[in-house]
Amino acid sequence: MADTKRVARLELDGKTYELPVISPSVGPDVLDIRKLYGEAGVFTYDPGFTSTAACESTITYIDGDQGELLYRGYPIEQLAEKSHYLEVCYLLLNGELPDREQMETFERTVTRHTMVHEQMHNFFRGFRRDAHPMATMVGVVGAMSAFYHDSTDVTDPRQREVASFRLVAKLPTIAAMAYKYSIGQPFVYPRNDLGYAANFLHMCFAVPAEPYHVPPELATAMDRIMMLHADHEQNASTSTVRLAGSSGANPFACIAAGIACLWGPAHGGANQACLEMLRQIGSVERIPEFIARAKDKNDPFRLMGFGHRVYKNFDPRAKVMKQSADEVLDLLGIHNNPTLQVAKELERIALEDDYFVSKKLYPNVDFYSGIILEAMGFPTSMFTPIFALSRTVGWISQWKEMISDPSGRIGRPRQLYTGAPARDYVEVDNR
Ligand code: SDX
Repeated sequence: MADTKRVARLELDGKTYELPVISPSVGPDVLDIRKLYGEAGVFTYDPGFTSTAACESTITYIDGDQGELLYRGYPIEQLAEKSHYLEVCYLLLNGELPDREQMETFERTVTRHTMVHEQMHNFFRGFRRDAHPMATMVGVVGAMSAFYHDSTDVTDPRQREVASFRLVAKLPTIAAMAYKYSIGQPFVYPRNDLGYAANFLHMCFAVPAEPYHVPPELATAMDRIMMLHADHEQNASTSTVRLAGSSGANPFACIAAGIACLWGPAHGGANQACLEMLRQIGSVERIPEFIARAKDKNDPFRLMGFGHRVYKNFDPRAKVMKQSADEVLDLLGIHNNPTLQVAKELERIALEDDYFVSKKLYPNVDFYSGIILEAMGFPTSMFTPIFALSRTVGWISQWKEMISDPSGRIGRPRQLYTGAPARDYVEVDNR
């Protein structure tokens, strides 16, 4: 909604251009530059999009200075304490918390879509056993469009809804299958008598040879991890999903694109990289050596799990995750975990160091999550797949918001071209 009373004025080459100011419900105002190129013949330049609002959204709000994260207006701290993942899924997808009947219907629908097409088991067999589970997930989720043809027409609201349910329901099954395949164990089918998080843990850790009882406290901790990762405004992977979706690509292809982007160590891959870094540090005594490396401009090393494009205060998710790490390790009787000790001491030292304080670098969501997941029994290669399955509902919610916008257009940024101007071809003997 443009605030017609307020405009920004751009002076350029003796001309003045008025840019309407649009006021949000919360957060910074935006300058509407949609007509700028047509009127002034210039582009704006913002690689990395540090100052660019790529869309209008009502789903998730982040205040980086306050360390605030809201899902449809509800603070993440309250949801982590009082809600559960499937209720957060309903909230993100529908905009409001469900009443009891709506929740039961939603949960029943998700539960009854957790199995994958039996033919997909063969699809897994094409991968090497030592393939990274993220490689498998990118391939298998993209291949869902080869199995579920009746939910790929993005112009049909009913098909969009079916695809959304299939993705929320099947991603844990696919992630668990990727894990089982990587360790040479048979796939474990989902069970409709288990909750969402418990079902995922059962599919990962049960074996046909004996019953597996999911410890309820671990299911609760996993459910909380999923809630903390569910959505996060216009991050790199969500922006990837939106851009892929803007071409009209089917939802499975769009989510596969999001998974591929999330894999990078600067993004969702940081949870694996962070735990590997903590292991490499190994002891509290070696922390100063790595702090020095992180500060050394000539050393590409960075503290993984630290820093964030938006949060210039504590990542509120990291606070909840840190508390959960203490609880889970205590529950599992893991005391004096060296990795957790290194993490806490590293955090303490870094937060007192001028370099990190001046650059406002704080632990992010990936700093503690790996410690919990490792304690649960997951290998580091499964950390980002768990992030991906948890974020799927956020990607879908953002995709649905974009695809149902009647004014939506294909995303097509321009560039600052500094290459060769037009020139004539030169025959090889004249070069
Ligand atoms: C996620 O966008 C999201 O919301 C993502 C996410 C989500 O939920 O979707 O929150 C999930 O991806 C969390 C981030 C996980 N990544 C990491 O932990 C990797 C380590 N962190 C960084 O590489 C970095 O902090 C980023 C990628 C997270 C943010 O990069 P920016 O915003 O582009 O910041 P930058 O690289 O320009 O750094 C600013 C300064 C630089 O120094 P100067 O050039 O100004 O001197 O801070 C330094 C950087 O060198 N810096 C770090 C650092 N992160 C930034 N120095 C040491 N260690 C770090 N971790």
